[in-house]
Amino acid sequence: MGEAVAETVGERFRELYGAEPEGVWAAPGRVNLIGEHTDYNDGFVMPFALPHTAVAAVSRRDDGILRLHSADIGAGPVELRVADLAPGSDKAWTAYPSGVVWALREAGHELTGADVHLASTVPSGAGLSSSAALEVVVALALNDLYSLGLCGRQLARLCQRAENVYVGAPVGIMDQTASACCEAGHALFLDTRDLSQRQIPFDLAAEGMRLLVVDTRVKHSHSEGEYGKRRAGCEKGAALLGVDALRDVPYADLDAALERLGDEEEIRRLVRHIVTENERVERVVSLLESGDTRAIGPVLVEGHASLRDDFRISCPELDLVVDTALAAGALGARMTGGGFGGSAIVLVEAADVEPVTEAVRDAFAAAAFKTPRTFEAVPSAGARRVG
Ligand code: GLA
Repeated sequence: MGEAVAETVGERFRELYGAEPEGVWAAPGRVNLIGEHTDYNDGFVMPFALPHTAVAAVSRRDDGILRLHSADIGAGPVELRVADLAPGSDKAWTAYPSGVVWALREAGHELTGADVHLASTVPSGAGLSSSAALEVVVALALNDLYSLGLCGRQLARLCQRAENVYVGAPVGIMDQTASACCEAGHALFLDTRDLSQRQIPFDLAAEGMRLLVVDTRVKHSHSEGEYGKRRAGCEKGAALLGVDALRDVPYADLDAALERLGDEEEIRRLVRHIVTENERVERVVSLLESGDTRAIGPVLVEGHASLRDDFRISCPELDLVVDTALAAGALGARMTGGGFGGSAIVLVEAADVEPVTEAVRDAFAAAAFKTPRTFEAVPSAGARRVG
C-alpha cells in the first residue's frame, strides 16, 4: 500500500476533522491457502495476506469521544462515547472499529477517544476478511498512538474478542492473525492453539505459477447461522470423543474415532473434515518446504471435496469454479474462507491464467450466474504504519 493512498486518506481525514491525522495505518485482507474451519478446533491454517487493505487515518482525543467515518459510507462521522460501548450496542458497520476500542478498554488499556477515517479496497462479503482488516487496522493504530506495546498476536486476540463478543460473530482466530502477522512473499503456517507460527516462503511467480482468486459474488453474509452450527457440531464431536478440541484427534486415529461416534452421521462428517484438513495443512507445508510446489494442487482439490461433501459449506458457484478450472488445466482449486459463497482459489501455470479465467467466465455465463471477479493474489505484507 503506497504513500499515495496514505495521502488520500489523510486528506479526507483533514476535510472531515479539520486537522492532520497523527498517522495512517494499513491492514490487509487474506486468502486461506489450506486449513478451513480448523481454527475454532485449535487446528492448523495457512493463510496469506492480499495486497488489498483497509487503511485508517487516526488521531487521539482526550474527551472520551470516538468518531468513525468510512469512505464507503456517504454520511458524516458517527460519534460514540467510549464509556458507553457495550456488546450488542452497535449493529452498524461501526461495530468492527468500536468493538476494537471496547475490547482494548476491557483488557485494561486506557483509551480516551479517537478520530478515525477508514477506506478499504478489500472486497466485502467475498470471504476475504474485510472485517478482520478493519479491526486490525484500528487496533494497530491505537496500539501505536497509545503506546500499548501489544504484539500482532495479542492484537489479533483482542480483535477476535471484539468480533465474538461485541459484534456477536463466533469466528476463529485465523483472519485477524493473518491480517496482523503475514509477511510479503510468504504464507503463514499458524497453529491456532497457541498462535505459534512459521513464515513459509511462497513465491509462485518465481516458479512460473499464479494463484487466482475468483470472487463468485455470492455474498456469504447469510451464513452466520450455518457457521455457528458447524462450530457447535465440532464441539459436540470433541465432547463425544473426550478431547478438548478436534485438533487432539490424530490423523492415524481417525477411523477409530469415527467408529466411536457410531450413528452420529452428521458429527462423523464434521470430524472427518477437521481431522483430514489438519493433515492436509501439514502436507502442504512439507511440500512447500521441500520445493514441490506443484504437488499442492491435488491437496487443494481434496480439501474442496471435503468442504463440499463432509463439511457441506460449498455452493453451486464455488463448485463450478473448481470443476471448470480443473477441466481447463488448473493445477488445483478449492473454495476459501467461511463458505456458502465468497471466493475460490485456483492454482495455475502462468501460461494458463487467461484460458482458465475465460473458461470460468464462460461457464458462469452459461449457468446464468453473476459474472465472477478474478484477480491474481500475490502474498503481501501484514498490518503496518504507512504514513
Ligand atoms: C471465517 C472465519 C475464520 C475461519 C474461516 C473458515 O473466515 O472468520 O475464523 O473459521 O471462516 O476457515
